[in-house]
Amino acid sequence: MIRLEHIVKYFHKGSVNEVFALNDITLRLAEGDFVTVIGSNGAGKSTLLNCIAGSFFPDSGKIFIGAGDVTRWPEYRRAALISRVFQNPLLGTCPSATIEQNMALAALRGQKRGLGRGVKGSDRERFRTELRQLGLGLEDRLLDKVGLLSGGQRQALTMLMATMVKPEVLLLDEHIAALDPKTAGHILSLTEEIVASRGLTTMMITHNMKHAISFGNRLLMLHQGRVLLDLCGSDKKTLTVKDLLEQFYLAQGEELAMDSLLLG
Ligand SMILES: Nc1ncnc2c1ncn2[C@@H]1O[C@H](COP(=O)(O)OP(=O)(O)OP(=O)(O)O)[C@@H](O)[C@H]1O
Ligand SMILES: [Mg+2]
Repeated sequence: MIRLEHIVKYFHKGSVNEVFALNDITLRLAEGDFVTVIGSNGAGKSTLLNCIAGSFFPDSGKIFIGAGDVTRWPEYRRAALISRVFQNPLLGTCPSATIEQNMALAALRGQKRGLGRGVKGSDRERFRTELRQLGLGLEDRLLDKVGLLSGGQRQALTMLMATMVKPEVLLLDEHIAALDPKTAGHILSLTEEIVASRGLTTMMITHNMKHAISFGNRLLMLHQGRVLLDLCGSDKKTLTVKDLLEQFYLAQGEELAMDSLLLG
């Protein structure tokens, strides 16, 4: 469970460069909710996920993850509860370590112990089984350095590593945007499979409206730091790309109407 109460975030407050990035966001995700998040460039999508992850604190409002108030928890402390996958496949894994070393570290997330004990045979078997489900042949490359993998292979490994220890919430920020269409499709089905089989509470930012409609059980549209649409159940299922585009234009249209009022 994750709950945001009246989250407000400014950047460069009080200067000429002031940005009102999140404008009073209140949101509650139930356990197992898979939420797709859309909105134009600069709408506040990444800022919302960064606030949840603790990359910075909100100016006001509260964030609850699980039972606790994590609003003032630093990022490293929240990392025990949150997994993130970014657009850049180079983030999220360590290139100079082997696949099995990367996976062993991921398996220790939230624990105080380090990698001192090394990778055991039983770990290896588990890693092989997990890698096999990616369908990329990585189960035979446990000792390869991760830096040798392609972007798509690396992103698939990152997805697996992000979910080896079940997080309270999985945050995906355009995690397929840097991949070719075929690989992107593969990572997307993998995402769906992992999220469903582990019942993960997930937020997935995408610019692809078809994906936003067809994946997950809930859809949020952000605009100028506010939640413009929040649809779930049959409202989401019956949604079309045309409906979403109309909402986008409506939002822009309101801006135009406001401008013309001001100018008039
Ligand atoms: N660290 C930061 N410092 C200053 N301004 C920031 C920072 N992060 C985001 N912003 C600003 O906050 C606003 C929201 O940005 P954000 O990155 O959340 O948008 P987004 O919806 O993720 O857009 P995109 O689709 O382009 O990724 C933008 O105006 C952006 O320039
Ligand atoms: Mg973004």
